[in-house]
This record gives sequence, structure tokens and C-alpha cells, in this order.
Amino acid sequence: MIPARAVFSGLQRRAFSATARDLSKVTVLGAAGGIGQPLSLLLKLNPRVTELALYDIRGAPGVAADISHINTNSSVKGYEANASGLASCLKGSDVVLIPAGVPRKPGMSRDDLFNTNASIVRDLAKACAESCPDANVLIISNPVNSTVPICAEVFKAHGVYNPKRLFGVTTLDVVRASRFVSEIKGSDPKDEKITVVGGHSGVTIVPLFSQSSHPDLTTNADLIKRVQFGGDEVVKAKDGAGSATLSMAMAGARMAESLIRASQGEKGVIEPSFVDSPLYKDQGVEFFASKVELGPSGIEKILPVGEVDAHEEKLLEACLGDLKKNIEKGVAFVASNP
Ligand code: NAI
Repeated sequence: MIPARAVFSGLQRRAFSATARDLSKVTVLGAAGGIGQPLSLLLKLNPRVTELALYDIRGAPGVAADISHINTNSSVKGYEANASGLASCLKGSDVVLIPAGVPRKPGMSRDDLFNTNASIVRDLAKACAESCPDANVLIISNPVNSTVPICAEVFKAHGVYNPKRLFGVTTLDVVRASRFVSEIKGSDPKDEKITVVGGHSGVTIVPLFSQSSHPDLTTNADLIKRVQFGGDEVVKAKDGAGSATLSMAMAGARMAESLIRASQGEKGVIEPSFVDSPLYKDQGVEFFASKVELGPSGIEKILPVGEVDAHEEKLLEACLGDLKKNIEKGVAFVASNP
């Protein structure tokens, strides 16, 4: 039998002496925004994050100074809003989260944000390609269906594109789906594992209830619509003050944590994400959100969509049509605005 003290000191060593592999620099671009601030807060509370780097075109040093007083072990630094601040912020990053850009106002679709956010993401992607080409890059800025392809095109142009390390953050769709189902079924959302595939906007968001423990929900049109347009509830309730920020921060922090766990060797870490995917390439759809197994190199495995019923087949058809156009729009943007 191992004496209790030996077990304790072993645990203690593991807790306090992080190996080089366990060090994780996480960077947030857009850190002073509605998502950026609570996201940075959650990352500061995460013991797996050892260094937190914050950048924004305004206010990052202030957010960093505030968060840095929280008594967890990680270091926090906010960088000046200029090219060299951005480059130093990114250098050595393991994970970069990008929630920079404008959010929706009532009546706007995510695609309406394209004109403003496309160039913001393009420029930040250039900075990542130059300063941290090996980092895992997590795009939150909408429209994700187009901003992820924009980032991929920029990386390709810089000769550093690694499809295994580029992620569109769709975690919130799964978070919402499990919560909405739990409200209907009176269950605990942690027990509701709902697969959501496709993209991250309106009809491109496809919940697959036939694969859950409630296959009866595949005909619940109100629920399907709520999962697809759940973001609109928040935009409407905020009445011009923006879109989901707090739930999104939680979802983004969860995705970052999963990546770090997988990079530290944990097996079987699976998250949904919008990635460069083989699943529908034969139909001209280069990116697709599905369950993805994470590992030390980013994406370990893209899981298949699996069995779907006739209702979901129809939803998928509608999804693929829209998604293809959204992706092409992003690719065309970089071609004409390199
Ligand atoms: P916000 O306006 O509150 O914050 C955006 C921040 O980005 C601001 O602090 C702004 O100064 C900063 N910023 C703008 N240009 C920048 C640049 N070039 N470099 C660095 N920082 C820059 O907006 P919020 O609510 O935080 O939303 C951010 C984005 O996230 C929006 O595009 C929104 O649509 C998207 N979003 C995505 C979700 C998802 O599930 N993927 C869910 C909710 C929102």
C-alpha cells in the first residue's frame, strides 16, 4: 500500500511543477469586448492556462491589469494596440481565441457583419501567420462560416496553413441545444448530449436529435428553430447592445480548455467545431462543423455525421446549400482583398 503522504506529495508535485509541455500561453484578440472580457476572466480562473495575453484595439492593458489581481498562478499581460504589440502578444501562443469584431443588432443576420468583420479577421490572421503559425487558432468572430475560410486563405498565402489547427467555435450551439432540451424534458443539461453539425448561422445549424436519448424531438420544429436561431433571442433581448457574450465566453473557454487538455495528452477529448473537413468536400463544401476528436496536434480525428433520419436529411440539404455560399464568399474576399 502506498503511504498517504507519498500520494499527497506526488499530487502536489504534479499540481505545482508544470512540465514544459503543460505550459499553455493563451491569447485573446478582442479581449476588451463583450465576449473578450468574460472569456479572459474564465481563462484566468483556469489552472491549465499558465500565461494569458490580451490584445484589443482599445483597452486591453486595462482589462489585463484588472484580471491580473485575481489570485491564480497564471501571468497576465495586456498589449499596446499597434502592430508590434500584436506581434509580441501572439509570439509563443499555444491557443489564440479571436472574438474581435462587431456583434449583431436586432434584425441583422450574421452575414450582415461580413463587411466589417472580414477585414478584421483577415488582418488578425496575417498577424497569427507571421507570429505564431503553429498555434491553435479559434475563430469566434462572425460570420464564422466565412471568417474561418478567410483565415485559412490567409494562412495558405503565407505558406503556413495547417488545417488541423484552425477551428470555428460552434460550441455555443451545442451548449444551447443541451440547455433547451433539458428545459423541455426537465432533465439536467449535463446529461443531454446533443450533436449539432453544419455551420454556425441559421439554417446551417443542424441539431441531430435522432442521435440523442430523445429521438422524438426530431419533429419538434419549434425546438429546431430555437437551436438554429437561439442567438436572435439574445440579440432581441439586448435591444441593440449586442449579442451573446456571457454564454459565448463560457463556450469559448470550454473549447480552449478542451484543446489544452488534449494537447497535454488526455485522450478522447471531443468537441464540436467548424473545421476544414472531408465530410462534404465531394459536394463542394470545404468546411463543416461536426464532432472532432482533439489531440496534441490539434485535430486528431473528424468524426462522421452518423445516422440521420429523413427530417434531418432535409435540414442537412438546406444547410449545405447555404454553407457552400458562405464559404465561397470568404474565399472570394481574400482573393480580391489580399
Ligand atoms: P464587442 O463589440 O463587444 O467586442 C469586440 C471587440 O473587438 C471590441 O473590444 C473591439 O475593440 C475589438 N476589436 C475590433 N477590431 C479589432 C482588431 N482589429 N483587433 C483587435 N480587437 C479588435 O463584440 P462581442 O459581443 O464581443 O462579439 C465579438 C464577435 O463575436 C462578433 O463578431 C460576434 O458576432 C461574435 N460572436 C460569435 C459567437 C459564436 O458562437 N461563434 C457567439 C456570439 C458572438
